[in-house]
Amino acid sequence: MTKDNRPFPSLEEIKRAAEIIRSGGLVSFPTETVYGLGADALNPVSVARIFDVKNRPLFDPLIVHVASLSSIIELTEGLETRAEKLIKRFMPGPLTLVLPKSKIVPDIVTSGLPTVAVRMPDHKVALELIHQAGVPIAAPSANPFGYLSPTTACHVKEQLEEKIDMLLDGGRCILGVESTIIKLDGQEPLLLRYGGLPVEEIKDVIGQICIPELQDDKPESPGHLPYHYSPHTSMKFIEDIKDEDIDGKKAGLLAFEAPRNDNDISFESIEVLSKKGDLIEAAANLFSALHRLDSLGLDIIIAETFPLVGLGRAIMDRLQKAVNNRITVK
Ligand code: TXA
Ligand code: MG
Repeated sequence: MTKDNRPFPSLEEIKRAAEIIRSGGLVSFPTETVYGLGADALNPVSVARIFDVKNRPLFDPLIVHVASLSSIIELTEGLETRAEKLIKRFMPGPLTLVLPKSKIVPDIVTSGLPTVAVRMPDHKVALELIHQAGVPIAAPSANPFGYLSPTTACHVKEQLEEKIDMLLDGGRCILGVESTIIKLDGQEPLLLRYGGLPVEEIKDVIGQICIPELQDDKPESPGHLPYHYSPHTSMKFIEDIKDEDIDGKKAGLLAFEAPRNDNDISFESIEVLSKKGDLIEAAANLFSALHRLDSLGLDIIIAETFPLVGLGRAIMDRLQKAVNNRITVK
């Protein structure tokens, strides 16, 4: 256990997990954002297993997790100054940089793109695992494609346990939303995903960032689909609720602070993300609360909207995608 009572795998366990990675297996491991499902990034066959286990389309590239700047240099081609500044300021941390790739990165990792996504997680277990494995680790979030991301080892167990070789339990993920993704390929910096590092902080270091409108048919990031991160239960924002959505239906509420419930709906269950109205706490609780609501057999989950500042943007991005859900998840 750590000081804050989170489990911490022993060095022996982490070494065993590293050996599994080196010999081509899949290990789920904790990070500060969400749990990842890792394989040796330089072994195309192991990486292919990730796509298989997650049921993830091959056009959706993976993030390569590293534990040092020298790995980033090996995986990329000619780091530009803005990338160097961001790495120095925010890594390890909840930031992923999409950079021109070097020849050592297999095409399956990048879905054939000329860029590679790199990230240094701010989590002792993840860093030790990468260090012990001695190879960079390609890892998406450890959930079936399109479903809610896992923020506890229990979520991973429920969704993927029988399909993976080992799960390192590091307790609850402190941040609870995925990393912010920025593309730097010599052009204007481009935001590909809102996430755990607020864009305001990134702008402070490199100035203006281009934030594209989300487009249904042509997402900037292959995985940046307008539907994603979705529970099985259908979702709507409270502002969009009509009588027929709730008449005779079992509804759950995802609330920010105290539930407002202006519409006088009787909810089967209410999840409050942060009683004190703190967006960081709300982000940390988001996926767990959605997992709980999704397990109740409700007809609809109704979500409040969150302020579009700081981590509120990442929360709203995930909720918007869950509301747009068009994927049938098995
Ligand atoms: O916090 C996180 O980022 C977590 C933890 C496990 O590190 N990982 C994560 O991975 O969220 P995943 O696979 O669920 O999301 C990665 C996103 C996808 O939307 C993918 O399309 C995008 O990164 N991506 C990866 N490589 C890319 C590239 N070369 N160009 C554009 N987008 C890329
Ligand atoms: Mg994911």
